[in-house]
Amino acid sequence: MRSLIDILELTTKELDELIAVAEDIIANPAKYAEVCKGKKLATLFFEPSTRTRLSFEAAMYELGGNVLGFSEANSSSAAKGESVADTAKTISCYADIIAMRHPKEGAPLVASMNASIPVINAGDGGHNHPTQTLADLLTIKREKGSLSGYTIGFCGDLKFGRTVHSLIAALSRYENIKVVLISPDELKLPDYIRKDILEKNNIEFIQTESLESVMPELDILYMTRVQRERFFNEADYIRLKDSYILTPKKLETAKGSLTIMHPLPRVNEISVAIDSDPRAAYFKQVLNGKYMRMALILKLLEVEVK
Ligand code: CP
Repeated sequence: MRSLIDILELTTKELDELIAVAEDIIANPAKYAEVCKGKKLATLFFEPSTRTRLSFEAAMYELGGNVLGFSEANSSSAAKGESVADTAKTISCYADIIAMRHPKEGAPLVASMNASIPVINAGDGGHNHPTQTLADLLTIKREKGSLSGYTIGFCGDLKFGRTVHSLIAALSRYENIKVVLISPDELKLPDYIRKDILEKNNIEFIQTESLESVMPELDILYMTRVQRERFFNEADYIRLKDSYILTPKKLETAKGSLTIMHPLPRVNEISVAIDSDPRAAYFKQVLNGKYMRMALILKLLEVEVK
């Protein structure tokens, strides 16, 4: 039995296989409509979510399975003091697979060590968000044709942005990736990711505070929200929240082939005027997330589809 806590638990071959399954689901949805009949997904969300929770639920329904769960800690016995370990043991009696989001880093790992069913990390604090990375990889593959050979700029809150951490880890597996890290000094990528992922894998990277200065180089621009919920000090959040706002004017120097991504939710980082730009791919990421979560559920439940 396997869980998915960190994207690096999947080999490059497995990532490529998940993308191939997702593309087959897109092409042949009827083939997959009943394959999880009788199976139950539990969505345990101790932190708010729109896309991740509802795409997991839509994914399981589209595979013919059922869903149970909760969408806030206060409607579960966590509010009475129940531990993550006991919650995981309990849910193992009712479901076949768990998707868990939690504000504490490592909570889904603890759940996976105590559950007797697979656990998927649906976002843990400012740490990791591997299934967003699956959505991002499918989006890059479909927009660019491959996962190798481009320059990707990550812009905004690189310190707390868990989607950035997981995507950088995944991309370190692919050839000829250049990373441009664009953030204020206080929201720089954590040292452990810079050293353990970028430097260790000899990934070319630069750090800058200026989006304008690097815009012409980028093949992909991955915008992120400043993560208000991770700040200790509201004044710091207010000072930093609008560090980067992407507008049509700022895109004037960008490549015509640029792909603009954002894990969403967006607050103010991308002007809505950009939504109709053919380079905007962030709502495609939303849909791709459902297909990749379908592929992941099939893999972890070891469902064979002929
Ligand atoms: N991208 C993402 O995790 O969105 P939600 O917080 O809405 O799930």
